[in-house]
Amino acid sequence: MKKILFVASEGVPFIKTGGLADVVGSLPKCIDKKYFDVRVMIPCYTCMKPQMREKLNYVTHFYMDYNWEGVYVGILEAEVDGIKYYFIDNEKYFGGPKPYGDDAKYEIEKYAYFSKAALSALPVIGFQPDLIHCHDWQTAMIPVYLDDRFRQGEFFKDMKTVMTIHNLKFQGRWGIDDVKNITGLPYRYFTADTMELYNDANLLKGGLVFADALTTVSNTYAEEIKTAFYGESLEGLLNARSGDLRGIVNGIDYEDFNPETNPHIEHNYSAANFRKEKIKNKRALQKELGLKQDDKTFMIGIVSRLTDQKGFDLIAYIMDELCQDNVQIVVLGTGEERYENMFRHFAWKYGDKVSANIYYSEALSHKIYAACDAFLMPSLFEPCGLSQLMSLRYGTLPIVRETGGLKDTVEPYNEYESTGTGFSFRNYNAHEMLNTIRYAEKIYYDKKREWNKIIDRAMAADFSWHVSALKYQEMYDWLIG
Ligand code: ADP
Ligand code: GLC
Repeated sequence: MKKILFVASEGVPFIKTGGLADVVGSLPKCIDKKYFDVRVMIPCYTCMKPQMREKLNYVTHFYMDYNWEGVYVGILEAEVDGIKYYFIDNEKYFGGPKPYGDDAKYEIEKYAYFSKAALSALPVIGFQPDLIHCHDWQTAMIPVYLDDRFRQGEFFKDMKTVMTIHNLKFQGRWGIDDVKNITGLPYRYFTADTMELYNDANLLKGGLVFADALTTVSNTYAEEIKTAFYGESLEGLLNARSGDLRGIVNGIDYEDFNPETNPHIEHNYSAANFRKEKIKNKRALQKELGLKQDDKTFMIGIVSRLTDQKGFDLIAYIMDELCQDNVQIVVLGTGEERYENMFRHFAWKYGDKVSANIYYSEALSHKIYAACDAFLMPSLFEPCGLSQLMSLRYGTLPIVRETGGLKDTVEPYNEYESTGTGFSFRNYNAHEMLNTIRYAEKIYYDKKREWNKIIDRAMAADFSWHVSALKYQEMYDWLIG
């Protein structure tokens, strides 16, 4: 039995701010239990929902040498759906109202602590993974710490690491002197061929240099990040390591995201009966959100972190124009204030057409995926994207920009060949996006049968973890030997 440990800063069902949590919560369940014992380690945030916190059991604690002190490391555990979770507890670091804060230096101190604690906890709990699968910059210090001290000991000697990039934009950068001081790592880890980048220490770079293999969450993004536009200054390194870098497209949990059984949605439906049943969700949502009650109006959904990454400047640019059409726009998201206020403004201006829900809600997200006709996601860059996969699963047609995972998972409608599962445009241009939205509107209003056939294909597409989990297994096998 090969032993794998996932280490990440968030994971469903305990704590989630975005798609990383969905992946960490759903992928381990789909790795073959006959051959792999996969466990997950995340921080024990005090902002976890109380009903989830109740499930955790205290295991033990110890004190770790960190940032010139002996620092408390608590270990808790829980089991969900047959997967064992470990939690690293320290209220100083994980006690805030949300997982991530704004102070970059403190975030580095916090997640370098988490990375070192994750390694230090292993001999204490007696779990010796063959491979540690690290996710994003928050865990990128694990391969570095392993290289520095841990691998010198028998316990860690043969431990392999994989570093998965979910989002290259976030790297954990700060001045070298401070990071050296905080992490206690020697100078050799702060050179141009290790963690230094443009005179700063860069934690993600450390992970990318020292991990045994690198992955990211779609094929297209794996290629894009080798270019200057998407590479966030790490394209040189990613080119140098391109032999060790592969793209494995994300899946979603097909049991959770199932329109036939999901408890959050008003009316369950399936690929066989959506033509009659899906509309009931639209009616319910129009009522709930105070939009005009009309079966026919083309309803566009957005569920997203409200950041530049997701293409909201394009949307802001054409909102007035788009609202002249016979459409309804339902937004659920939080993030940058200017985008939150932009949607609030348009909801005020076009009350019965635009609904701005500026908060986080699992339940409302499912209702939107189920109720809308189309889902808009015009990202500037998108490592994979899960929202478009959720929309496909619910028969809500994605309108996306052809980048990263969006390009790999949404096949654009071709009216001549009757193929495709959604709509897409190429350039980061507001009117190219608007034309594509209007093309979708035209098919929806004038060729309803065609529209429904696109839904047939969208709902038949399979983005469960089956295929991708096998690719991870192959990689683990190859690395562990
Ligand atoms: P990213 O990880 O970049 O935010 P993804 O598309 O991979 O983008 O994943 C986003 C996840 O977060 C999806 O599960 C989506 O439904 C969820 N989500 C985003 N914003 C909200 C919100 N305000 N309320 C509920 N779920 C949200
Ligand atoms: C990141 C990316 C998103 C991806 C998710 C899970 O948050 O922005 O594209 O789907 O990670 O891998």
